[in-house]
Amino acid sequence: MSTVAAPQTSDPLAPGTGRVEGAGFVEEPVDPTLDLFNEITRLKEEKNAVLLAHYYQESAIQDLADYIGDSLGLAREAADTDADKIVFCGVHFMAETAKILNPEKQVLLPDLNAGCSLADTCPADEFAEWLEDYPDHKVITYVNSTAAVKALSDVTCTSSSAAHIIEQFPEDQPLIFAPDKNLGAYLNRETGRDMVLWDGVCIVHETFSEKKLMRLKAKHPQAEVLAHPECREATLRHADFIGSTSQIRRRAKEGEPGTFIVATEEGILHQMQKDAPENELIPAEPESGCNCSQCPHMRLNTLEKLYLNLEHEAPEVTMEEDIRQQALEPIERMMEMSAAVK
Ligand code: 13P
Ligand code: SF4
Repeated sequence: MSTVAAPQTSDPLAPGTGRVEGAGFVEEPVDPTLDLFNEITRLKEEKNAVLLAHYYQESAIQDLADYIGDSLGLAREAADTDADKIVFCGVHFMAETAKILNPEKQVLLPDLNAGCSLADTCPADEFAEWLEDYPDHKVITYVNSTAAVKALSDVTCTSSSAAHIIEQFPEDQPLIFAPDKNLGAYLNRETGRDMVLWDGVCIVHETFSEKKLMRLKAKHPQAEVLAHPECREATLRHADFIGSTSQIRRRAKEGEPGTFIVATEEGILHQMQKDAPENELIPAEPESGCNCSQCPHMRLNTLEKLYLNLEHEAPEVTMEEDIRQQALEPIERMMEMSAAVK
Protein backbone atom coordinates (compact mmCIF):
# COMPACT_ATOMS: atom_id res chain seq x y z
CA MET A 1 0.00 0.00 0.00
CA SER A 2 1.23 3.50 -0.75
CA THR A 3 0.90 6.53 1.50
CA VAL A 4 1.05 10.20 0.63
CA ALA A 5 1.22 13.35 2.72
CA ALA A 6 -1.75 15.57 3.40
CA PRO A 7 -1.92 18.77 1.33
CA GLN A 8 -0.12 21.79 2.75
CA THR A 9 -1.81 24.85 4.16
CA SER A 10 -1.79 28.11 2.23
CA ASP A 11 -3.11 30.27 5.03
CA PRO A 12 -1.37 33.64 4.46
CA LEU A 13 -0.44 33.92 8.11
CA ALA A 14 0.62 30.31 8.58
CA PRO A 15 4.32 29.46 8.96
CA GLY A 16 6.28 28.88 5.75
CA THR A 17 5.34 26.07 3.43
CA GLY A 18 7.68 23.16 2.90
CA ARG A 19 6.62 21.77 6.27
CA VAL A 20 4.67 18.64 5.62
CA GLU A 21 2.78 16.25 7.82
CA GLY A 22 3.38 12.60 6.95
CA ALA A 23 5.95 11.31 4.50
CA GLY A 24 5.53 13.99 1.83
CA PHE A 25 6.08 11.43 -0.92
CA VAL A 26 4.63 8.10 -2.03
CA GLU A 27 6.08 5.43 0.25
CA GLU A 28 6.19 2.27 -1.77
CA PRO A 29 9.02 -0.08 -2.69
CA VAL A 30 10.18 0.26 -6.30
CA ASP A 31 11.14 -2.89 -8.19
CA PRO A 32 14.95 -2.58 -8.50
CA THR A 33 14.89 -4.32 -11.90
CA LEU A 34 12.70 -1.60 -13.44
CA ASP A 35 14.38 0.65 -16.01
CA LEU A 36 13.29 3.91 -14.41
CA PHE A 37 14.47 5.96 -17.35
CA ASN A 38 12.11 4.10 -19.71
CA GLU A 39 9.29 3.97 -17.16
CA ILE A 40 9.39 7.70 -16.45
CA THR A 41 9.55 8.51 -20.16
CA ARG A 42 6.58 6.18 -20.80
CA LEU A 43 4.50 7.70 -17.98
CA LYS A 44 5.29 11.23 -19.14
CA GLU A 45 4.04 10.42 -22.62
CA GLU A 46 0.99 8.47 -21.48
CA LYS A 47 -0.12 11.24 -19.16
CA ASN A 48 0.92 14.18 -21.36
CA ALA A 49 3.09 15.48 -18.52
CA VAL A 50 5.97 17.91 -18.94
CA LEU A 51 8.99 17.40 -16.70
CA LEU A 52 10.56 20.69 -15.58
CA ALA A 53 13.81 20.42 -13.62
CA HIS A 54 16.19 22.78 -11.89
CA TYR A 55 19.97 22.50 -12.31
CA TYR A 56 20.36 21.37 -8.69
CA GLN A 57 18.61 18.06 -9.35
CA GLU A 58 20.63 14.87 -9.63
CA SER A 59 22.06 14.27 -13.12
CA ALA A 60 19.68 11.42 -14.03
CA ILE A 61 16.65 13.67 -13.39
CA GLN A 62 18.22 16.46 -15.45
CA ASP A 63 18.73 13.98 -18.30
CA LEU A 64 15.04 13.06 -18.25
CA ALA A 65 13.76 16.63 -18.14
CA ASP A 66 11.92 18.32 -21.00
CA TYR A 67 13.26 21.64 -19.78
CA ILE A 68 16.05 22.56 -17.35
CA GLY A 69 16.44 26.14 -16.21
CA ASP A 70 16.78 28.78 -13.55
CA SER A 71 13.79 30.01 -11.56
CA LEU A 72 12.75 32.55 -14.18
CA GLY A 73 13.10 30.12 -17.07
CA LEU A 74 11.15 27.47 -15.20
CA ALA A 75 8.34 29.92 -14.36
CA ARG A 76 8.17 31.01 -18.01
CA GLU A 77 8.11 27.42 -19.19
CA ALA A 78 5.37 26.56 -16.67
CA ALA A 79 3.32 29.53 -17.88
CA ASP A 80 3.66 28.47 -21.53
CA THR A 81 3.20 24.72 -21.40
CA ASP A 82 0.24 23.04 -23.04
CA ALA A 83 0.87 19.73 -21.26
CA ASP A 84 -1.95 18.43 -19.05
CA LYS A 85 0.30 17.94 -16.03
CA ILE A 86 3.51 19.48 -14.77
CA VAL A 87 5.91 17.30 -12.83
CA PHE A 88 8.30 19.66 -11.15
CA CYS A 89 11.72 18.48 -10.07
CA GLY A 90 12.87 21.36 -7.96
CA VAL A 91 11.81 22.74 -4.61
CA HIS A 92 8.38 23.54 -3.26
CA PHE A 93 8.36 27.29 -4.01
CA MET A 94 9.16 26.56 -7.68
CA ALA A 95 6.36 24.01 -8.04
CA GLU A 96 4.05 26.36 -6.15
CA THR A 97 4.82 29.14 -8.65
CA ALA A 98 3.94 26.73 -11.47
CA LYS A 99 0.63 25.98 -9.72
CA ILE A 100 -0.13 29.67 -9.18
CA LEU A 101 0.33 30.18 -12.92
CA ASN A 102 -1.62 27.03 -13.84
CA PRO A 103 -4.52 26.56 -11.41
CA GLU A 104 -6.29 24.18 -13.79
CA LYS A 105 -3.30 21.84 -14.18
CA GLN A 106 -2.07 19.17 -11.82
CA VAL A 107 1.39 20.13 -10.53
CA LEU A 108 3.31 17.18 -9.13
CA LEU A 109 6.37 17.37 -6.89
CA PRO A 110 8.17 14.07 -6.10
CA ASP A 111 8.74 15.05 -2.44
CA LEU A 112 6.68 17.80 -0.81
CA ASN A 113 9.40 18.17 1.85
CA ALA A 114 11.70 19.73 -0.75
CA GLY A 115 11.59 23.16 0.86
CA CYS A 116 14.10 26.00 0.83
CA SER A 117 16.05 27.53 3.71
CA LEU A 118 15.29 31.01 2.38
CA ALA A 119 11.54 30.42 2.27
CA ASP A 120 11.76 28.91 5.76
CA THR A 121 13.42 32.03 7.22
CA CYS A 122 10.44 34.15 6.27
CA PRO A 123 7.15 33.01 7.83
CA ALA A 124 4.24 35.04 6.45
CA ASP A 125 2.90 36.11 9.86
CA GLU A 126 6.28 37.57 10.94
CA PHE A 127 6.77 39.15 7.55
CA ALA A 128 3.34 40.83 7.66
CA GLU A 129 4.11 42.24 11.12
CA TRP A 130 7.55 43.50 10.01
CA LEU A 131 6.05 45.22 6.94
CA GLU A 132 3.86 47.34 9.23
CA ASP A 133 6.99 49.34 10.14
CA TYR A 134 7.51 50.28 6.46
CA PRO A 135 4.17 51.57 5.16
CA ASP A 136 5.78 53.71 2.41
CA HIS A 137 7.96 50.93 1.02
CA LYS A 138 7.33 48.81 -2.04
CA VAL A 139 8.01 45.14 -1.38
CA ILE A 140 10.22 43.18 -3.78
CA THR A 141 10.27 39.50 -2.90
CA TYR A 142 12.62 36.86 -4.19
CA VAL A 143 10.69 33.89 -5.61
CA ASN A 144 12.41 31.72 -2.99
CA SER A 145 9.47 32.39 -0.68
CA THR A 146 6.08 30.91 0.08
CA ALA A 147 2.90 31.82 -1.80
CA ALA A 148 1.69 33.50 1.40
CA VAL A 149 4.75 35.79 1.47
CA LYS A 150 4.44 36.51 -2.24
CA ALA A 151 0.83 37.49 -1.58
CA LEU A 152 2.11 40.27 0.73
CA SER A 153 4.47 41.64 -1.97
CA ASP A 154 4.28 44.19 -4.78
CA VAL A 155 6.46 42.22 -7.15
CA THR A 156 8.50 39.03 -7.07
CA CYS A 157 11.88 38.60 -8.74
CA THR A 158 14.47 35.95 -9.50
CA SER A 159 18.23 36.27 -9.24
CA SER A 160 18.36 36.87 -13.02
CA SER A 161 15.71 39.59 -13.03
CA ALA A 162 16.11 41.34 -9.65
CA ALA A 163 18.39 44.25 -10.66
CA HIS A 164 16.35 44.87 -13.82
CA ILE A 165 13.14 45.04 -11.78
CA ILE A 166 14.61 47.23 -9.02
CA GLU A 167 15.81 49.76 -11.60
CA GLN A 168 12.25 50.24 -12.84
CA PHE A 169 11.22 51.78 -9.51
CA PRO A 170 11.78 55.55 -9.14
CA GLU A 171 15.03 56.29 -7.32
CA ASP A 172 13.22 57.99 -4.44
CA GLN A 173 10.88 55.02 -3.90
CA PRO A 174 11.85 53.24 -0.65
CA LEU A 175 12.13 49.51 -1.17
CA ILE A 176 12.10 46.34 0.87
CA PHE A 177 13.87 43.20 -0.33
CA ALA A 178 13.14 39.78 1.16
CA PRO A 179 14.03 37.15 2.16
CA ASP A 180 17.72 36.83 1.07
CA LYS A 181 20.02 39.35 2.77
CA ASN A 182 23.05 38.26 0.71
CA LEU A 183 21.25 38.74 -2.59
CA GLY A 184 19.69 41.97 -1.26
CA ALA A 185 23.08 43.37 -0.22
CA TYR A 186 24.54 42.45 -3.61
CA LEU A 187 21.63 44.21 -5.34
CA ASN A 188 22.08 47.29 -3.15
CA ARG A 189 25.72 47.45 -4.26
CA GLU A 190 24.80 46.87 -7.93
CA THR A 191 21.91 49.33 -8.16
CA GLY A 192 23.04 51.94 -5.62
CA ARG A 193 19.78 51.54 -3.68
CA ASP A 194 19.41 51.23 0.04
CA MET A 195 16.73 48.56 0.25
CA VAL A 196 15.69 47.37 3.69
CA LEU A 197 16.60 43.68 3.90
CA TRP A 198 14.92 40.73 5.57
CA ASP A 199 17.46 38.61 7.47
CA GLY A 200 17.40 35.33 5.50
CA VAL A 201 20.16 33.24 3.92
CA CYS A 202 20.54 30.18 1.72
CA ILE A 203 22.27 27.45 3.71
CA VAL A 204 24.19 26.29 0.63
CA HIS A 205 25.50 29.60 -0.74
CA GLU A 206 26.15 31.02 2.73
CA THR A 207 28.77 28.39 3.47
CA PHE A 208 31.32 28.81 0.66
CA SER A 209 34.72 29.42 2.20
CA GLU A 210 36.59 32.56 1.19
CA LYS A 211 39.90 31.09 2.32
CA LYS A 212 39.45 27.93 0.24
CA LEU A 213 38.33 30.00 -2.74
CA MET A 214 41.49 32.10 -2.53
CA ARG A 215 43.56 28.91 -2.37
CA LEU A 216 41.79 27.55 -5.48
CA LYS A 217 42.43 30.83 -7.29
CA ALA A 218 46.10 30.72 -6.37
CA LYS A 219 46.33 27.15 -7.70
CA HIS A 220 44.43 28.01 -10.92
CA PRO A 221 45.40 31.62 -11.67
CA GLN A 222 43.79 31.52 -15.16
CA ALA A 223 40.43 30.31 -13.82
CA GLU A 224 37.34 32.47 -14.03
CA VAL A 225 35.24 32.49 -10.85
CA LEU A 226 31.49 32.22 -11.52
CA ALA A 227 29.26 32.83 -8.50
CA HIS A 228 25.57 32.89 -7.65
CA PRO A 229 24.43 36.15 -6.00
CA GLU A 230 23.06 34.25 -2.99
CA CYS A 231 26.70 33.90 -1.89
CA ARG A 232 28.13 36.13 0.82
CA GLU A 233 30.02 39.29 -0.10
CA ALA A 234 33.23 37.54 1.00
CA THR A 235 32.71 35.07 -1.89
CA LEU A 236 31.28 37.52 -4.42
CA ARG A 237 34.22 39.91 -4.10
CA HIS A 238 36.42 37.24 -5.76
CA ALA A 239 33.98 36.54 -8.60
CA ASP A 240 34.62 37.45 -12.24
CA PHE A 241 30.99 36.84 -13.07
CA ILE A 242 27.87 36.85 -10.89
CA GLY A 243 24.57 35.50 -12.17
CA SER A 244 21.69 33.08 -11.91
CA THR A 245 22.24 29.39 -12.64
CA SER A 246 21.28 29.80 -16.31
CA GLN A 247 23.47 32.87 -16.64
CA ILE A 248 26.44 31.02 -15.09
CA ARG A 249 25.88 28.14 -17.49
CA ARG A 250 25.66 30.49 -20.48
CA ARG A 251 28.78 32.39 -19.45
CA ALA A 252 30.91 29.21 -19.49
CA LYS A 253 29.26 27.86 -22.65
CA GLU A 254 29.62 31.01 -24.72
CA GLY A 255 33.02 32.16 -23.47
CA GLU A 256 36.48 30.97 -24.40
CA PRO A 257 37.20 27.39 -23.27
CA GLY A 258 39.08 27.33 -20.00
CA THR A 259 38.92 26.67 -16.28
CA PHE A 260 35.98 27.82 -14.18
CA ILE A 261 35.61 27.81 -10.41
CA VAL A 262 31.88 27.54 -9.76
CA ALA A 263 30.36 28.92 -6.55
CA THR A 264 26.86 27.51 -6.58
CA GLU A 265 25.17 24.14 -5.97
CA GLU A 266 27.27 21.51 -7.74
CA GLY A 267 24.34 20.00 -9.70
CA ILE A 268 24.88 22.69 -12.31
CA LEU A 269 28.23 21.18 -13.28
CA HIS A 270 26.40 18.36 -15.09
CA GLN A 271 24.96 20.62 -17.80
CA MET A 272 28.06 22.83 -17.90
CA GLN A 273 30.23 19.80 -18.60
CA LYS A 274 27.82 18.50 -21.25
CA ASP A 275 27.81 21.94 -22.92
CA ALA A 276 31.60 22.12 -23.15
CA PRO A 277 33.47 18.90 -22.29
CA GLU A 278 36.76 20.70 -22.87
CA ASN A 279 36.16 23.10 -19.96
CA GLU A 280 37.71 22.33 -16.59
CA LEU A 281 35.07 22.89 -13.90
CA ILE A 282 36.05 23.20 -10.26
CA PRO A 283 33.35 23.44 -7.57
CA ALA A 284 33.98 26.06 -4.88
CA GLU A 285 34.27 24.49 -1.45
CA PRO A 286 32.20 25.05 1.67
CA GLU A 287 33.67 25.90 5.10
CA SER A 288 32.96 22.39 6.38
CA GLY A 289 35.32 19.47 5.74
CA CYS A 290 33.15 17.99 3.02
CA ASN A 291 33.69 19.13 -0.55
CA CYS A 292 30.10 18.73 -1.60
CA SER A 293 27.77 21.67 -2.07
CA GLN A 294 24.47 19.98 -2.56
CA CYS A 295 21.17 21.54 -1.56
CA PRO A 296 19.63 19.07 0.90
CA HIS A 297 16.14 20.19 -0.10
CA MET A 298 16.62 19.83 -3.86
CA ARG A 299 18.21 16.44 -3.38
CA LEU A 300 15.13 15.00 -1.65
CA ASN A 301 13.75 14.36 -5.14
CA THR A 302 15.05 11.06 -6.46
CA LEU A 303 14.46 9.00 -9.58
CA GLU A 304 12.39 6.52 -7.55
CA LYS A 305 10.20 9.25 -6.02
CA LEU A 306 9.78 10.83 -9.47
CA TYR A 307 8.61 7.51 -10.90
CA LEU A 308 6.11 6.99 -8.05
CA ASN A 309 4.98 10.61 -8.33
CA LEU A 310 4.06 10.16 -11.98
CA GLU A 311 2.62 6.69 -11.48
CA HIS A 312 0.30 7.72 -8.61
CA GLU A 313 -0.12 11.39 -9.61
CA ALA A 314 0.67 12.21 -5.99
CA PRO A 315 1.75 14.16 -4.09
CA GLU A 316 0.60 17.31 -5.81
CA VAL A 317 0.89 20.97 -4.92
CA THR A 318 -2.35 22.55 -3.74
CA MET A 319 -3.28 25.91 -2.28
CA GLU A 320 -6.28 27.99 -1.38
CA GLU A 321 -7.68 29.98 -4.27
CA ASP A 322 -7.58 33.35 -2.50
CA ILE A 323 -3.87 32.96 -1.74
CA ARG A 324 -3.20 31.83 -5.28
CA GLN A 325 -4.89 34.91 -6.66
CA GLN A 326 -3.03 37.24 -4.27
CA ALA A 327 0.31 35.63 -5.14
CA LEU A 328 -0.45 35.66 -8.87
CA GLU A 329 -0.39 39.46 -9.14
CA PRO A 330 3.23 40.00 -8.01
CA ILE A 331 4.35 37.03 -10.15
CA GLU A 332 2.62 38.42 -13.24
CA ARG A 333 4.19 41.80 -12.51
CA MET A 334 7.59 40.08 -12.40
CA MET A 335 6.93 38.41 -15.75
CA GLU A 336 6.02 41.78 -17.32
CA MET A 337 8.89 43.70 -15.75
CA SER A 338 11.45 41.04 -16.68
CA ALA A 339 10.28 40.38 -20.24
CA ALA A 340 13.66 41.59 -21.59
CA VAL A 341 15.75 39.46 -19.21
CA LYS A 342 17.58 36.43 -20.61
P1 13P B 1 18.28 30.38 -9.90
O1 13P B 1 17.05 31.16 -10.20
O2 13P B 1 19.54 31.14 -10.20
O3 13P B 1 18.28 29.05 -10.58
O4 13P B 1 18.36 30.15 -8.32
C1 13P B 1 17.49 29.32 -7.64
C2 13P B 1 18.01 28.92 -6.34
O5 13P B 1 17.33 28.37 -5.53
C3 13P B 1 19.40 29.19 -6.07
O6 13P B 1 19.76 28.68 -4.85
FE1 SF4 C 1 16.86 27.29 -1.29
FE2 SF4 C 1 19.50 27.49 -1.18
FE3 SF4 C 1 18.42 25.17 -1.84
FE4 SF4 C 1 18.33 27.25 -3.56
S1 SF4 C 1 20.15 26.15 -2.85
S2 SF4 C 1 16.64 25.89 -3.04
S3 SF4 C 1 18.08 28.98 -2.10
S4 SF4 C 1 18.21 26.22 0.15
